[in-house]
Amino acid sequence: MTSAFSIEDLSLSIGGALILEGITLDVNENETLGIIGPNGAGKTSLFNLLSGIRKPTRGKIRLGPTDITHMSVHRRAQLGIARTFQTSSIFTNLTLLENVRIAAQAASGKSMNFTRNAYKFEEIVAQSYELLDHVGLKTQALQRAGSLSHGDKRLLEIALVLASKAKIVLLDEPMAGMSVENVPALVEIIRTLATVHKKTVLIVEHHMEVILGLADRIAVLNYGELLVCDTPDAVIANPIVQSAYLGVNL
Ligand SMILES: Nc1ncnc2c1ncn2[C@@H]1O[C@H](COP(=O)(O)OP(=O)(O)O)[C@@H](O)[C@H]1O
Ligand SMILES: [Mg+2]
Repeated sequence: MTSAFSIEDLSLSIGGALILEGITLDVNENETLGIIGPNGAGKTSLFNLLSGIRKPTRGKIRLGPTDITHMSVHRRAQLGIARTFQTSSIFTNLTLLENVRIAAQAASGKSMNFTRNAYKFEEIVAQSYELLDHVGLKTQALQRAGSLSHGDKRLLEIALVLASKAKIVLLDEPMAGMSVENVPALVEIIRTLATVHKKTVLIVEHHMEVILGLADRIAVLNYGELLVCDTPDAVIANPIVQSAYLGVNL
């Protein structure tokens, strides 16, 4: 199994409070890693360190042989780490097609001068339609993104991640705010990130049935510490996890 990236003794303190303590974890290429833990356990903080929004107090993050611990968000994104479900990633005044096309264009690393590169432009528009089709939004391609429902915005964000060609996708509570009937469709699209598109996926989610249905392994955070990282079956059977979750709906 190839390692996608590794976290070594990662700690974060903010204003004297210890938020994460000594997290060590290898994430395999193309795996879906679920991250669970009670509110305030440090899940979002861990994503902030991985995407570069925050820098750790101690420890290292390596992407293959490259130490990315002190790299900017922008540089990490160039190296293939994408974080979704920040609504700011969608341009609400542009159409769905334009949103995806801009992400695809940026990822192609080519000039934004379309008149000089007409063939490339056609190709990118075709790809963008394909991606919208993949997430079930093709018929709405020419609508303004701002007119989409909450659930459809999430699907559009998945299309944007795919257009960005990121290798590692961080999903922080993708089901939050979704109505129950829309959850299965989003789960299936998220599943394709690993199965069809060969991404490495890290997903924080409170819905245990979603995590159990998607994750190859589950990491359990509690008060900033990594309790265990193992297969779903082993995690559920783990007595330390069970005791940490007493009173919490696992
Ligand atoms: N900017 C911040 N300043 C101070 N404390 C913070 C900050 N961000 C998060 N925390 C604290 O860090 C802990 C972990 O938060 P977070 O990573 O958001 O947890 P989770 O995503 O698991 O619910 C919480 O106790 C939270 O109050
Ligand atoms: Mg959180």
